[in-house]
Order: sequence, then structure tokens, then C-alpha cells
Amino acid sequence: MKSIAELEEIRKKTLEKISLRTNADGIRVVVGMATCGIAAGARPVMNAFVEEINKRSLNNVSVSMTGCIGVCKLEPVVEVIDKDGNKTTYVKMTAEKAARVVVEHIVNGQVCLDLTIGAVEK
Ligand code: FES
Repeated sequence: MKSIAELEEIRKKTLEKISLRTNADGIRVVVGMATCGIAAGARPVMNAFVEEINKRSLNNVSVSMTGCIGVCKLEPVVEVIDKDGNKTTYVKMTAEKAARVVVEHIVNGQVCLDLTIGAVEK
């Protein structure tokens, strides 16, 4: 069993690692981290987003996690919310797809339509 101080230290390090920043006018990436998401591979997806965003020094992009998004069978689910509040929901994500979303959607403004919930549910 770890002490409270150790747990607090782990919490701090984890928050730094996932660059949990709050910025009102940037793009937000929200990764579903309910147990179903984690079981489906949400952690590597989140890590891939953080790595790609840090690699490209995208300071106006924040990555955070949320709980249940409501579609277990489509996990890992990621929402990308632009500065105007428009939300794109990506499903069945992988680390490779995450890297693609960073380049195509976040950097170049082109939504990866084939990875969205709309494309999968047709
Ligand atoms: S428990 Fe899986 S999406 Fe809510």
C-alpha cells in the first residue's frame, strides 16, 4: 500500500505527463477512459495524442480524459472540440489513428471523416 504522499506524487506526475492544460481558446482532445475504454486500448491512444502534440509543440491543444461516453462497442472514443465548441467524435481509435488525427485534423483542419462515429454507424 502506498502512502498518501506517494499517491499525491504519482497524481502530480501523471497530470504533468498528460499535459492537462486548460485553455479557453484552444482545441480540446477528450479521451474516454471508462473501464471499457481502457480495456479497448484508450491508454496508448491518449499517450499517442500527448506525444504527437508535444512533439509538434502545439501549445493551444489540451488533452484530458473523461469517463463513460456511452458507446462501449466503439471504444476507444475520442472527442476533438474546436475553439468554437464544434465536436468531432472519433471511434475505435488506435495510437496510429491518433497520430493521424493530430496531423490532419488538429494541424491541418481536415476532419478524418472515415474515423468518425458517423462513418462507422452508417
Ligand atoms: S461503460 Fe462503456 S461507454 Fe460507458
